[in-house]
Amino acid sequence: MPSPQKFMTLERYINEQEAKHPGASGEFSAILHDLSLAAKLVWREVSKAGLVNILGAAGTTNTSGDEVKKLDEYADETIYKAMDHGGHLCVMASEENEDILQIPENYKKGKYVLLFDPLDGSSNIDANITLGSIFSIFKRVSPGGNGTIQDCLQKGIHQVAAGYVIYGTSTMFVYTTGNGVHGFTLDPTVGEFLLSHENITIPKKGKIYSINEGNYAKWDDGMKRYIDFLKQEDKATNRPYSLRYIGTMVGDFHRTLLYGGIFCYPGDKKNPEGKLRLMYEGNPMSMLVEHAGGSSSTGFQRVLEVQPKALHQRVPLFIGSEEDVKLAEEFLQGKR
Ligand code: AHG
Ligand code: MN
Ligand code: MN
Repeated sequence: MPSPQKFMTLERYINEQEAKHPGASGEFSAILHDLSLAAKLVWREVSKAGLVNILGAAGTTNTSGDEVKKLDEYADETIYKAMDHGGHLCVMASEENEDILQIPENYKKGKYVLLFDPLDGSSNIDANITLGSIFSIFKRVSPGGNGTIQDCLQKGIHQVAAGYVIYGTSTMFVYTTGNGVHGFTLDPTVGEFLLSHENITIPKKGKIYSINEGNYAKWDDGMKRYIDFLKQEDKATNRPYSLRYIGTMVGDFHRTLLYGGIFCYPGDKKNPEGKLRLMYEGNPMSMLVEHAGGSSSTGFQRVLEVQPKALHQRVPLFIGSEEDVKLAEEFLQGKR
C-alpha cells in the first residue's frame, strides 16, 4: 500500500504551533483562524470577478436584484466583519479607510491590533491578473478598552505576525509569526488551506528585478545607474537580470520570495516616499522577507525601523534577496 500522504491544514498547523508555546493564550491563534476564513470569503468573490458582466458590474444591480459592490470595498468590509467580533482585537486600520476602525461597542476588546490592505493590485481586477490581501499584527500599547492610533503607529519591528493571501493560479496563505515563513495552498474542493511551502527561504541573490520602469525619467541618478547596471552583461554576476512586473505587489513579492531577486518601488523627485504604504504593504512584507532570510530597505534604512507618523504614510521600498538589496543601497547611497 502506498504510504499515506500527510495533510496538514492551516488550522491544524496553527494549533500545533500554539501547543509548542505553553504560555500562549490561544488568542493569537484565534486571530489567524479568523483571517483564514476572511481569506476564503474574499477568494470566493475574487474568483467570480470575471463573471461581472453576467452577474452585474459594480454599482449596478445583479440578476438577483442585489447591489453589486466593488471588489475592493467588498474585501475591506469582509475582512473587517470577519475580524470584529473575535474578542482578540482592540482596533483595526485598513488602506481603504482614512481613520482607524474601532471594534463595535458591544464586542469584547482584546490585546491585538490588525492592519490590512484588503485588496492589493486593484488596477488588475478587470484583466484577471493576480490579486492579494496583506495583513500585519501588533500587540496593543494602550492599556485597555478601545484601541488608539498609537496602537497602530508602531514600528514594523514590533509586529508579532504578518502575512498575505495571493489570489493567483492557486490561492495561497503565507504568514510568519516570527518562527519561519510558511505557505498554504487552498484546495478549493474541500475549502482548506493545505501546507505546501514550509519554512520558505529566499535565495541570497537572484537574477530578476521587478519595478515600474516607466518611471525611469523621474528617478534620481543613483536609481537610474542601479537599473542600468542590472541590464549590463556580465556572466559572473548573472547579468543582465530579467525584468518581471505584475503591478500587484503581492504577486511580485511572492515570486521574489520564491525565486530571489529584488522588488523596488523607489521614491522620485515628485513623490520622495514612493507609492507603497508603510503600514499595509512595507511593514508586513518586510517582516516576511527578513524571516525568510532576505532584507528590506528604504535605500537608506531598514524598513522595519522606520517610525510611522501617519496611518497612510508611504515608504520607498527595496525588498528581496540580501545581496540584491545591499547592492541597491550602495547605488542609492552614492557608494557606487
Ligand atoms: P493597491 O491596489 O492596494 O492600491 O496597491 C497597488 C500597488 C501595488 O500592489 C503595486 O506594486 C503598485 O501599486 C503598482 O503601482 P504602479 O502602477 O505605479 O506600478
Ligand atoms: Mn496595495
Ligand atoms: Mn489595496
